[in-house]
Amino acid sequence: MWASYRFFADIPFVAPSASKEAAEIDLLWWFLCAVSLVMTVLIFIGVIFFAFKYRRKPGVAPVAVHGSNVLEITWSIIPFIVMLVMFWWGAQLFYDAQNPPKDAEEIFVVGKQWMWKLQHSDGNREMNALHVPVGRAVKLTMASEDVIHSFSIPALRVRHDVVPGHYDALWFRATKPGHYRIFCTEYCGDRHSQMIGFVDVLDQPDYNTWAGGGSTGTLAEQGQQLFTQNGCSTCHLLNEQGRCPIMKNVYNHPVELSDGHTVIADDAYLRESILEPNAKIVKGFDANVMPNFKGQLSEENVIQLIAYIKSLSTTATPTGVQPGAAPAPAIKKPKAVIKAVIKEAAAVTPPQQ
Ligand code: CUA
Repeated sequence: MWASYRFFADIPFVAPSASKEAAEIDLLWWFLCAVSLVMTVLIFIGVIFFAFKYRRKPGVAPVAVHGSNVLEITWSIIPFIVMLVMFWWGAQLFYDAQNPPKDAEEIFVVGKQWMWKLQHSDGNREMNALHVPVGRAVKLTMASEDVIHSFSIPALRVRHDVVPGHYDALWFRATKPGHYRIFCTEYCGDRHSQMIGFVDVLDQPDYNTWAGGGSTGTLAEQGQQLFTQNGCSTCHLLNEQGRCPIMKNVYNHPVELSDGHTVIADDAYLRESILEPNAKIVKGFDANVMPNFKGQLSEENVIQLIAYIKSLSTTATPTGVQPGAAPAPAIKKPKAVIKAVIKEAAAVTPPQQ
């Protein structure tokens, strides 16, 4: 009996809170709980009270009731306001979660049945473990090598699906040193439950000690090796025009395509151009010159190559383009989103008879 009590006492029902966002998200969560509790109690009291008050009485015929406008308006408007508060509050937190600060340190995550492989920009690699300094914003750029996984650190209140074929991102700023769990929270095969690990939030001196040990060149240097090994350097020459575009100052810059479109050479574009070069042809160049690297390079290799291409961009980026911007299009402020939705709805003309 005592043993089973101890067993339940040891289960953490509330995850530790180790970031500023964690505290903010918890506050909203408790607010939702409180609203649900108040509504549940009100409804149950009402059900019991009316069941008793209007029970069938011998000899009394029930009176026909035709509704009450005051009541109906009241119970429509008050919940509407409460729900608007929930929406606004949630949208603000969502907006913050989708927009990593510009100075966030980028770490790359590759999910694979059934492990998490992590690469820091300084070249440090980890498996099912992540070391981060306390107080610094960290942005995770994530790819999957096989199926859909989901990267989750409950203590930091971050979680994001990792879908094969493109990059997903999340960011956090840990505020409390400690040892916290990483989970995969999307069923991804029979050993899904073992796809777990730990994140260690370290004080800056401890982090420096950890980061200083055993690295095999920076991510960009590893990418440069791949660039030569795979023969990329024979066509993408460094300083003169070869058979393929020069990679200098390409990253996060606009690229003109042969079909007349212009795209920004962000992580997603570069990844696609490495794996399926014919998807988008740069203006003035021929299709079918570069071989497909799909199946030849792992997601980790692609990340290294992109880091190398990034390192070749030294000049100031054009206005309106931020270096290292989120791979997904940045989410607009809730106010702007609502405005855009209203404008779009107004522009739709009903189909003519
Ligand atoms: Cu990966 Cu579940």
